[in-house]
Amino acid sequence: MPLNSAVADDKQVVLSWDDGGSTRFHHIWLRDNCLCPECRHPDAWEHTVDTWAIPLDIRPELVEVDGGLTITWSDGHVSSFSHDWLSEHAYDSSRGHPEPKITMWDVETIRQSLPEVEYDSIVAGDEGVLAWLRLINEYGFAIVHGVPTEDQHVMELARHISYVTPTNFGLWFDVQSKPDPENLAYTAVKLTAHNDVPNREALPGLQFLHCLVFDAEGGESGLVDGFHAAEILRAEHPADHELLSTVAVPYQYLDEDNDVRFSAPMIGLDQRGKYWDIRHNNAIAAPLDIDPGLVPAYYRAYQNFVRILYRPELEYQFKMQPGDCQVFNNRRVLHSRAAFDPNSGPRHFQGCYVDMDDFLSRLRVLERQGADFRRT
Ligand code: OGA
Ligand code: ZN
Ligand code: ZN
Repeated sequence: MPLNSAVADDKQVVLSWDDGGSTRFHHIWLRDNCLCPECRHPDAWEHTVDTWAIPLDIRPELVEVDGGLTITWSDGHVSSFSHDWLSEHAYDSSRGHPEPKITMWDVETIRQSLPEVEYDSIVAGDEGVLAWLRLINEYGFAIVHGVPTEDQHVMELARHISYVTPTNFGLWFDVQSKPDPENLAYTAVKLTAHNDVPNREALPGLQFLHCLVFDAEGGESGLVDGFHAAEILRAEHPADHELLSTVAVPYQYLDEDNDVRFSAPMIGLDQRGKYWDIRHNNAIAAPLDIDPGLVPAYYRAYQNFVRILYRPELEYQFKMQPGDCQVFNNRRVLHSRAAFDPNSGPRHFQGCYVDMDDFLSRLRVLERQGADFRRT
């Protein structure tokens, strides 16, 4: 978007755009974000300005709109910005980075546009990877079909996005019933919708669950859009939503070798009030240690929220086939498993995690389609 004019007053430069909009940038902000090789390393592309040394009352001597915006500061330093760069980094208007599209869903809507991709399209190259990552970002999950049913191949799939993130279970984990199980994953019981490992400060971002063998009766999978459920709670029980999004509650995984614990609200909001993560796993909920006055209200809120999460119209159920891999945002989408009969045949899944940062980074890099990241 081309710029029409730039006018400096004592605090800021006000830019008028060709579309009639206007944006302001404070002088100190413009000086701090100078893109010249002295202020941003030309190779490392890191910020090399001593922000703490810029005079708080710095002002431009001269402001010119040419091919870009050029500012000459009182000490003679010159800063230039392209129109696109300024438009992209505007901080007081609706300009700036468009938010990636997020579509909340329930069973009815997700059935109409099921996010699924073929493994071959991922292996074929970046275009397929990008299509896959967009689906995960928009819906919180995508199911990959045709993943080779080889031991640990789940990590090969994950590597199309980034490195695998380890937990106390290792780089990857098995999900299959076995004698003397050390956690519920190794049983055949029903697992109601939950997040994996909310007892970790860094709640895993992407979770992979790859089906290698499935000859057992039962054991269907389920996925729930936790952000959508939280929206419903906010509409139906606002006080409960307030409590669950502000009171930190403890989660803990405890065994002979591990004691991994963290407290956080069940409904995590970012500083702008947008959903950040949901933490719900009753199996590793530690004894409540909140303000005693809040205990009865907390249990009520907890039950109201979980009843929403478990509404049949919110839980998309399906049966995995060998070669399928569920890939979901473990911070948004909760997953479940119906009970199965281990005597009817084997059921073997393998899983792993990838950090949310690495997933989002890969998505952004693919979205910029080879454009130079030095957007001057
Ligand atoms: C788990 C789990 C899913 C499944 O072990 O935490 O969610 O389908 N398993 O067995
Ligand atoms: Zn500079
Ligand atoms: Zn799980």
